[in-house]
Amino acid sequence: MAVSVKSKREIEIMRDAGKILGTVLNELGRKIQPGITTHLIDQMGNEMIRSYGCQPSFLGYDGYPASICVSVNEEVVHGIPSRKRVLREGDIVSLDAGVIYKGYQSDAARTFAVGKISSEAERLINVTQQSFFEGIRFAKEGCHLYEISNAIAEYNESNGYSVIRDLVGHGIGTSLHEEPQIPNFRQERRGIRLYEGMTLAIEPMVAAGGYAVNWLDDDWTVVTADRSLSAHYENTVLVTKNGPEILSLVEE
Ligand code: MF3
Ligand code: CO
Repeated sequence: MAVSVKSKREIEIMRDAGKILGTVLNELGRKIQPGITTHLIDQMGNEMIRSYGCQPSFLGYDGYPASICVSVNEEVVHGIPSRKRVLREGDIVSLDAGVIYKGYQSDAARTFAVGKISSEAERLINVTQQSFFEGIRFAKEGCHLYEISNAIAEYNESNGYSVIRDLVGHGIGTSLHEEPQIPNFRQERRGIRLYEGMTLAIEPMVAAGGYAVNWLDDDWTVVTADRSLSAHYENTVLVTKNGPEILSLVEE
């Protein structure tokens, strides 16, 4: 299947989906504090998503058992919420969520501080987020896909971090994962040409140490092999002739 270009009508729906998802992540971010369980985050997220008339797209996806992926510290992505996992002061926690609205998907992630965190953890979160913004400067008609990948890689690596290579961003639309795959590490080729109407989930996953990862025995949770801290930042982005339109970001 080729990369799809969305119609005006589809883009309108994806804007609405993204606005809801951005709002949910902002609201969840405000609830993050020492003492809450990762299960409570999932439960609140599920309720918020449904309260806006959306479905949580991760719940049941490939058998994933929750609505929000909650990944703490050395966990990169796909952490499974648990009643036994209590957030503690100094942790960093990545929340990744997806919604379905009128048949269309939006996908976004943020890493939040739990109480007061180390300056090194703070820097990892900020660099990861900024690398997304460096990458999307190329989400513009006429640019090529891997200009995004290379900009993300370059920004993280010049700050002394590694980008995870076993997981990538992706096209998004009526399905959570559509073509193309969007690596966050340097590519030799320039990749496909970008056109207005393409919708991309761009998601740098960054480690303070090396890029190698392991999967925990739950078969979902991805952790850094060296157990260094990891952060994640993702938005659903529309490519236009003038540059990126970030669909899933709601400024607070
Ligand atoms: N946000 C993830 C991604 O971009 C999806 C999580 S996988 C799921 O691929 F199973 F939890 F849905
Ligand atoms: Co994604």
